[in-house]
Amino acid sequence: MSIVGEVKQRTDIVEVVSGYVALQKAGRNYKALCPFHNEKHASFFVFPEQQTWHCFGACGTGGDVFSFLMKKDGVDFSQALRLLADRAGVALGSPEAPASAESRETERLFQLNELAAEYYHHLLLNSQGGKAARAYVSNRKITAETIRAFHLGFSPDSWEALKNYLADKGYEERDLVEAGLVLEREGGGGYDRFRNRLMFPIYDIRERVTGFGARALDNSLPKYINSPQTAVFDKSGSLYGIDRAKSAIRQKNLTIIVEGYTDVLRAHQYGWHNVVAAMGTSLTERQMDVTKRLSKNIALALDADVAGEEATLRSAERYETSVDAEIRVIALPQGKDPDEVIDEDPGLWQSLVEQAPLLLDFTFQIVMSRVDLEKARDKSMAIQKLMPLITEIRDPIRQAHYEQKLARLLRVSESDLRASRKKLQGRRRVSEAAEARELSRLAHQSTSSPVEEYCLALLIQYPGLREVAQELSAEHFESTENREIFAQWHSCQDIPDLTQKLDDSLLEHLNYLVDRTFPPDIQEKEETRRLAISDCILRLQEMLSKRLEAGIEAVLNLERQEEGIGAELAKLEQTGIEPGQRLQEIFVKQEQKTRPKRG
Ligand code: UTP
Ligand code: MN
Repeated sequence: MSIVGEVKQRTDIVEVVSGYVALQKAGRNYKALCPFHNEKHASFFVFPEQQTWHCFGACGTGGDVFSFLMKKDGVDFSQALRLLADRAGVALGSPEAPASAESRETERLFQLNELAAEYYHHLLLNSQGGKAARAYVSNRKITAETIRAFHLGFSPDSWEALKNYLADKGYEERDLVEAGLVLEREGGGGYDRFRNRLMFPIYDIRERVTGFGARALDNSLPKYINSPQTAVFDKSGSLYGIDRAKSAIRQKNLTIIVEGYTDVLRAHQYGWHNVVAAMGTSLTERQMDVTKRLSKNIALALDADVAGEEATLRSAERYETSVDAEIRVIALPQGKDPDEVIDEDPGLWQSLVEQAPLLLDFTFQIVMSRVDLEKARDKSMAIQKLMPLITEIRDPIRQAHYEQKLARLLRVSESDLRASRKKLQGRRRVSEAAEARELSRLAHQSTSSPVEEYCLALLIQYPGLREVAQELSAEHFESTENREIFAQWHSCQDIPDLTQKLDDSLLEHLNYLVDRTFPPDIQEKEETRRLAISDCILRLQEMLSKRLEAGIEAVLNLERQEEGIGAELAKLEQTGIEPGQRLQEIFVKQEQKTRPKRG
């Protein structure tokens, strides 16, 4: 269960609300003077069975214990979650949401890294000792603007410069060690990790400094050192440049992934703003997780040799199916990195990007280049390599396309090929990632409403639907998680923005919504999406009235027994207006009666 679910399960709304208002038992439910507006006649109800509240009077709104606290205490969702978790004795932070557990701790690490980045940056721009670094940077044709934009820095040739600088600011050595900025000597006493290097602060998508890459200013080795793994830095989950690239990635609907820090700098400097670096590691699933939220199209810039390696191709293919991404390959001239290609021939880079083949087409090229059509053995090798990839394709038209292509290239009959596919399909293994996705789907299904999630996922993934959703309010979402995500989505531009605003405890659920795939006609046709969302809205409205119905009935029965009101209600019943509205009229009228006349 999610943290939010757990907190909710261990919380009794009646207990929480009675801390704020004097609740009175009313049948199976409770009522009180509404704490959100001024009234003399109680129109505020708490329903213990549903764990909800509703004001049938002037507010005409309601929700669960989270929305109650948020409204009553004027706090945001994160604060409400903290208050309630505290009360319920639920420790915030589980393996899925480590950030919320040690949030103060990680906050401090971010702060420290930020300070260090500022310090290094300042030294690169201004210090006497930074002269050689400035010369190096200009030698590499890195402009002042790029230095500023990426906050490049210089770590001085000293064992304690940063350590002393941060100690003066009141940080303890222990913190510096935890941030990976300082190393401990065996006998005790620490020293700066980064010395006499060009510093590349690494930012996450939320624009926080998580760690550093640091390049030697000459040919000394190691060429680069990086921050160690810390509570906020994990190299294999980071993409260098993502903070500056995110909006261009969205705009161009393409992430270009290169290998190195300098490749990112150079590409951005030449106007290629949708470029990020996997920092020398081969692309990981966690890195894919970061970019797929911005765009599902990825182009991997790979050295020709590396690109041809089976391991590279296979791991990329696995991602393509597990993330539903479309991966292209930018095969660089042998031995060159994008930095050099762009420097020597920006036009070549441009055409390499524009003509980058799809991963599968590229794999075909590689495999076929090793096939001698005169040799039967080569042919069956090619089938063994390529057929499993073809069977994994979900779209039958694409699948047929590649099957035909393979038959044509190998000069075998399609029926022979199809027979071998059938054989392969029999023992087709479900990829781990697909399995995990299915599990996550099931887990979510059991805890929350599919309609709510379908609707939210549509809204989040297709910004064009925003205007259609104007009739929706947060109250239409019964699940606390969905409601908070919807409320935040309202005031957010895009998914990165939303990711930033949401409490960490909700990010897993957000990922699930962002990853949800829709059938082709929804993906392709705006028209179909609009129909789908309208249908969702109708159903959510129905579901909201259904939820309110029971409460309304209970309250109607109760009020009927009151003198005066009973008669009014009986009159309203004749008019055929719906019960909820009847109640509101009664309550509002009641207030007008009891309000002292102003003269
Ligand atoms: P490269 O050796 O291609 O470095 O490694 P580069 O970025 O092109 O650097 P320049 O152009 O020589 O200055 C690619 C990436 O691999 C990681 C870094 O992220 C680097 O940018 N790397 C490389 C390390 O982490 N450590 C190393 O010792 C080398
Ligand atoms: Mn390079």
